[in-house]
Amino acid sequence: MDSFDGLWSELAPIGRHAGTGGYRRFAFDPAELACREWFIATAQARGLDVETDGNTNIWAWWVPPGVDPHAPALVLGSHLDSVPDGGAYDGPLGVVSAFAALDAVRDAGLVPDRPVVLVAFADEEGARFGIACAGSRLMTGQLDPDKARALVGRDGRTMAEAMSAEGFDPAALGPDPERIARIGEFVELHVEQGRNLVDQGAAVGVAESIWPHGRYRLTFRGVADHAGTTRMQDRKDPMVAYAHAALAADAAARESDSRATFGRIEVEPNGTNAVPSTVRAWLDARAADQPTLEALVARIADAAGVAASASGTTVDVVTESTTPLLSFDLPLRDRLVDVVARSRAGESIPVLPTAAGHDAGILATAGVRTAMLFVRNPTGISHSPDEFAEPEDCHAGVAALAAVLTDLAR
Ligand code: GLV
Ligand code: MN
Ligand code: MN
Repeated sequence: MDSFDGLWSELAPIGRHAGTGGYRRFAFDPAELACREWFIATAQARGLDVETDGNTNIWAWWVPPGVDPHAPALVLGSHLDSVPDGGAYDGPLGVVSAFAALDAVRDAGLVPDRPVVLVAFADEEGARFGIACAGSRLMTGQLDPDKARALVGRDGRTMAEAMSAEGFDPAALGPDPERIARIGEFVELHVEQGRNLVDQGAAVGVAESIWPHGRYRLTFRGVADHAGTTRMQDRKDPMVAYAHAALAADAAARESDSRATFGRIEVEPNGTNAVPSTVRAWLDARAADQPTLEALVARIADAAGVAASASGTTVDVVTESTTPLLSFDLPLRDRLVDVVARSRAGESIPVLPTAAGHDAGILATAGVRTAMLFVRNPTGISHSPDEFAEPEDCHAGVAALAAVLTDLAR
């Protein structure tokens, strides 16, 4: 048996909300810092050299004696932070599986020819500061460090303030080309966030591509007023415009077989008996290709504008982040399929597109040879406390990752 179960149970209580059963691990908050401590202690217990880079990503190096520390490294890992009330698996499954795969290949006597590095990328979900994959975007120059430092979190503090309060140096944020140059390949194992593997009866799959996606902030402004005394025809109610935009988003995404979600809104003054003055709504939009995504967002923005005019309010739309279509490195992908198939007695290994974003996509966009493994999720549910993978499938994922590590490290 591999070391997965023990490691998994160590991490499981950290940041789990007793009421919802969901995880709340947000950049630089106590739960996320506890996850960092767990990663560092787990790596040190294995004799790995641990470092936290300027973008607060954590790296644990295995460089056996005689191995050139500057040879292109094989990097395995994922992230430890979560969405609000997220599941246990999105992110941590990849990190814990990387440790368990490392343990398994060491037990089997493997000595790699090149450095093997485990990584936990910072702030993948962007739950606190709004930009997904902040750690990998900063490292690869896909997020401007000045913009990152100034991002305002949900508690009103900037990223720079939150970092300083926890002993991180905000001035150190920014592109890290030397570190990127040291990465030979990055392989991220992740729980599947859909039902492809269940439908195909496979425990493990390989990623093909990531849909283009983006986050957009729509701010609707009207006039606060009394909920009882203000006649309907006298109102300038931004909630009404927002509601039309949400319905338009749902219809447009259905028609184009895309995704549009308003998962977060803020209302001011947020009183039951007051017409709101402001509604801020965050749109997450995704599609199979770039033109479809652009048309989807344009249609939603148009509908928001029309609804705002009709209700005597205004709307402005700000793009917070975008991620282009990403196809994973074809030779590496084929190699993973081959290696995993052989390790699973020739079973056929599904190759899947995904509509979820990942640090692996950010690194691949930056030119790093990158691949992903997916582990079956029986319901497909993710970003929810109900996210799940059977222990047996988690072990299958570790075995697959160990096979990939063995193949690529020599
Ligand atoms: C990350 O999980 C995302 O796809 O939003
Ligand atoms: Mn996620
Ligand atoms: Mn993830």
